Amino acid sequence: MTKRIQRWLTVLVTALMVAFSVQVMANEATTTTSSEQLGESMVKQEVIGFAGADYWRAVKDGEKGYTTSGWPEHDVLISVPGQTWYILKEKWMSPLGAMAIFGSLVMVTLAYFVVGPLKLSKPKTGRKIQRWSRMDRALHWSLAFTFLTLGFSGLTLVYGKNFIKPIVPTEVWGWIIYAAKQYHNYMGPLFAIILLFVVVKWWRKSIFNKVDIDWFKKMGGMVGKHKGSHPKAGFSNGGEKALFWLLAFFGVFIVVSGFVLDFPIFGQTRRHMELSNLVHMISALILICGFIFHIYIGLFGMEAGLDGMVTGEVDETWAREHHSEWYEEVKDLPENQPGYSESQQHEVKSKPSSNA
Ligand code: HEM
Repeated sequence: MTKRIQRWLTVLVTALMVAFSVQVMANEATTTTSSEQLGESMVKQEVIGFAGADYWRAVKDGEKGYTTSGWPEHDVLISVPGQTWYILKEKWMSPLGAMAIFGSLVMVTLAYFVVGPLKLSKPKTGRKIQRWSRMDRALHWSLAFTFLTLGFSGLTLVYGKNFIKPIVPTEVWGWIIYAAKQYHNYMGPLFAIILLFVVVKWWRKSIFNKVDIDWFKKMGGMVGKHKGSHPKAGFSNGGEKALFWLLAFFGVFIVVSGFVLDFPIFGQTRRHMELSNLVHMISALILICGFIFHIYIGLFGMEAGLDGMVTGEVDETWAREHHSEWYEEVKDLPENQPGYSESQQHEVKSKPSSNA
């Protein structure tokens, strides 16, 4: 009897132990699954935190984050006022600038075909008048070279993605835009130095006087009923003086804003860079348009106009017709007399220039 009871108790205890163990194992399995699930859901939550709408809304609203960099604004991933700059640059300035440049090109083309170049009224006499010294010419062509190449590389930076990128392989485009940026960065300071020399050397002869008012009233004798009237002018006429001051004024803006952009190591914030970028672009576009007219007159719009800036001398007829007051001042100088020799010319040129 006792043995039978013992056997039953053994069976019961074993059954209880098996049942208990199964229960524990089942519980453990449940616990593992739920902790895995918990981990997964935590990861999910974090990912949603970074990639979700709320997170990006905060970033787009310009909320500050955390960064080890102590530089101003480095804790802001997307700068809200930067969007205003982007819209002003991409949606307004770029298209308006392209229209202004295209409009200027159309106008000079029309000027050439409709109004026609300004011819000399009388034949050239062959007598030469000294106009630009070697130094003046070196300065002018250095300024022209740096300005034009900076203009082309700058326009590539702004408009290249619209006009060049779609038609060249990606690698070529990469090189073009890289070269344009590097060229622009290094040539900018050189332009600034040459411009400074030009302004210092030529500002005196660019001061306006009474004669220039009449020159403007007659539109330089270049168009309409005044065409060919040859209004009086000194060494520079009203138009040249206006162009000089346009260059000096916007040149300062281009150079200062260019330096702010070129050397971002003086604590400039994104606001300074954005403002400099807009000032740089507006000034450059104004000067590019202005100089399209200058280059047109120099190359095509005026007979014998280019001679002075290439050889240093102009024909007597050109001097008398376009710069009558200056011609009267300099016509009797020894260097402007027929037969004046090369060696004598060098002596005179090494003395302070009479026309600067
Ligand atoms: C192919 C391009 C160019 C040509 C053919 C050209 C031609 C000329 C010529 C012929 C003159 C002398 C006018 C005279 O004797 O009265 C002159 C003067 C001048 N040029 Fe240019 N030029 C060019 C580009 C530039 C550029 C890019 C700049 C400046 C960014 C510039 C700035 C000046 C200035 C400031 C003067 C002096 C005007 C004065 O005050 O009398 N030129 N240019």
